[in-house]
Formats: sequence, C-alpha cells, structure tokens
Amino acid sequence: MVQAYEPAPLEFFRPATLEDLDRITALEAAGYPPDEAASRERLEYRLKHAGAQFLAAVCPAAAAEDGRLEVIGFVCGTLSCADKLTEESMGAHEPEGDLLAIHSVCVDAAHRRGGVASRLLRAYLSYVQGTTPGLREVRLICKERLIPLYAGVGFQMVGPSDVVHGKDPWFEMRWALGGEEQEEEQEEQRQGGGEEQG
Ligand SMILES: CC(C)(COP(=O)(O)OP(=O)(O)OC[C@H]1O[C@@H](n2cnc3c(N)ncnc32)[C@H](O)[C@@H]1OP(=O)(O)O)[C@@H](O)C(=O)NCCC(=O)NCCS
Repeated sequence: MVQAYEPAPLEFFRPATLEDLDRITALEAAGYPPDEAASRERLEYRLKHAGAQFLAAVCPAAAAEDGRLEVIGFVCGTLSCADKLTEESMGAHEPEGDLLAIHSVCVDAAHRRGGVASRLLRAYLSYVQGTTPGLREVRLICKERLIPLYAGVGFQMVGPSDVVHGKDPWFEMRWALGGEEQEEEQEEQRQGGGEEQG
C-alpha cells in the first residue's frame, strides 16, 4: 500500500534584524487594518530593543531578486513587569519583565492557511525560552475568530481583554512556561485539534 506523503514545510525561522524592517513594515501594513497596524517606528523600536523576542519565518521558495530569502512572516513581542495585558503594559519594553506580550503574528497573504503561523508560533515559544531568562508567561490578545489558532499551539483563554484597539473586542490568551500539567494540556490540545479553549 502506498503511504500518504506529507512534504516538509519549506520555511524556516531566524531572528529578525533591522535589515528586515522594510519587509516587516510592509507585511504588518498589509496584514492589519490601518487603526491596528504598528507603525514603522514601533516595529523599529521592537527590533532594536526587543530583538530577542522577534522571530522571522523565511522561505527559500520566495527568494528575492538579490538572492536573499524573503521574510514571509514574523512574530514579535515586548517584555513587561505587569501581570496582564493593558495598553500601558504593551506600550514599552521592560527588559527585566517576566511577562512577554506578543504584539503581532503576521504571515504573507500568499502563504496563509498552510500552517506557517502555527509552526512559527511553536518555534517562537521555544526560541523565547532560550533568549529570555526568567520568562514566566507569554500572553497575547486576539479576535474571536483566531482563538483556535492560538489554542492549537497551547495558549489558554484568560477572557475578554481590557484593551480597546480598533473596533472589534479582543480576547486575552496565555501560555505559561513549565510544569508537567501544562505540557500534558498542550499534548492533549495537539492530539485533539485544540478544541479546549478554557
Ligand atoms: C492570522 C494569521 C497569522 C494566520 O496565519 P496562517 O499561517 O494562515 O495560520 P495557520 O495556517 O497556521 O492556521 C492554523 C489554524 O488557525 C485558524 N486560522 C488561521 N487563519 C484564520 C482566519 N483568517 N480565520 C479563521 N481561522 C483562522 C484555523 O483554525 C487554521 O487551521 P485550518 O487552516 O486548518 O482551518 C494570518 O492570517 C495573518 O497574518 N493575518 C493578518 C495579521 C493578523 O490578523 N494576525 C493575528 C493577530 S491576533
């Protein structure tokens, strides 16, 4: 009997740098409505000050004309000393903070719905554990329709967010580091397709 063949994903992940700023700004502007997209200056601030929490997905199949590999997605965040996400706690990077607030998860429209964001987020969660000593928790806010994306990589629902940003309500989700219980829950979610959303 012929076995079903699943090709390996073509993208891989690397830290984002200031050289990626133009491309990342373009992806952000294309991915979010104008009242939600971070400005070039905000993205530059994050690359400069929170570069250890900024990961890019690059794809050999999307090689640019100059031969560089094209960035097809990215995820970035900043550290905070706060316990939950507010406009204030997401506004600046506090290097000594143990809460990582994800600000943006963005994939080029041409590469969506192929699992890039899910693989990028899994890589990110592993990456920031290495780059961020003392990291306790990763949180993000998302719109209702994207809850399954984050639940699928192990985030749990906290509840409706206090943050007002654009016209739709936001939900806060968290991913806590360590603990056998957390690992078991994440494994259950992976096997069960992430239907448990807190
Ligand atoms: C949201 C985004 C990052 C998803 O990237 P992606 O690579 O397409 O995501 P994945 O392929 O890993 O999706 C995994 C699952 O998440 C959910 N999902 C992803 N995109 C979705 C969407 N637009 N609407 C509803 N569910 C979605 C689905 O359950 C999907 O599984 P399926 O394709 O088997 O149905 C991408 O659409 C994007 O960059 N959007 C613009 C920026 C944005 O809104 N970012 C999120 C901020 S909270």
